[in-house]
Amino acid sequence: MTAKKIRHYLQFKDFSLEDYEYVLERARILKRKFKNYETYHPLHDRTLAMIFEKNSTRTRLSFEAGIFQLGGHAVFMSTRDTQLGRGEPIEDAAQVISRMVDIIMIRTFGQDIIQLFAKNSRVPVINGLTNEYHPCQVLADIFTYFEHRGPIRDRTVAWVGDANNMLYTWIEAAQILGFKLRLSTPPGYKLDHAMVAAESAPFYQEFDDPNEACAGADLVTTDVWTSMGFEAENEARKTAFADWCVDTDMMARAKPDALFMHCLPAHRGEEVSADVIDGSQSVVWDEAENRLHVQKALMEYLLLGKLNH
Ligand code: CP
Ligand code: NVA
Repeated sequence: MTAKKIRHYLQFKDFSLEDYEYVLERARILKRKFKNYETYHPLHDRTLAMIFEKNSTRTRLSFEAGIFQLGGHAVFMSTRDTQLGRGEPIEDAAQVISRMVDIIMIRTFGQDIIQLFAKNSRVPVINGLTNEYHPCQVLADIFTYFEHRGPIRDRTVAWVGDANNMLYTWIEAAQILGFKLRLSTPPGYKLDHAMVAAESAPFYQEFDDPNEACAGADLVTTDVWTSMGFEAENEARKTAFADWCVDTDMMARAKPDALFMHCLPAHRGEEVSADVIDGSQSVVWDEAENRLHVQKALMEYLLLGKLNH
């Protein structure tokens, strides 16, 4: 008997268009079951280990509530109180943890750490944010777009702000799902082209002026000026990013029915003005809630494959 191939979800491009079509439809079905208080326990007795090397509200809660709602159980582990924080090799930790649980979610620093962990894991590993990527968040964002406006294919997304984990994930998503990305980052914080696949080139365009990036967009999105792990640069970034604030003038450059998204947590008055994030075009609360539904679909898919109920 051949062993079943383990699939990991370490970056957006780990799934194909076909995988996404299935997972997004499953997220819709699981959300409906949840809203109808329908008990659905396909992951009865399964355990999720959640390893956090950085802070989190949404990711921790949505994974923990999600596995519980699917009939399973979550174990929270942080660097502070495990041997990971005392230098146990990643390879050893992956061997041990993956013998005791069915699926693992990790939030850490470098993508190389999660890749090494996955290589030594017997069970699926999910990226809950690294310095380079945040695929679960963009999955939730795409689902949120679909709920409000339909398929994202051929639509235009504007990115205003840092060349961070969210932007690199949006670029991968644009290529796989077939939409256009118009992005603007400040001088000194430009995209590292070495991190972007050559095949992605037709799907994104860079603009010096953030207003220009927003022109004609169906969705405008941004993120904090300083991501976790880069706190030492905070003061310098406040100066460099001052004009990369999504305000009503910038939103006015987008289509009249454009949506606004932010993965949260947000800093009103920095990367977004209060009237935009709290305004009628903002869908940030749906976006946050949808982390729960898409990640339930993701865990179900990684553990059980395709289902038809
Ligand atoms: N958006 C997001 O990942 O939020 P947390 O940092 O709270 O998990
Ligand atoms: N880019 C941010 C996202 C937080 C959810 C960070 O990495 O801190």
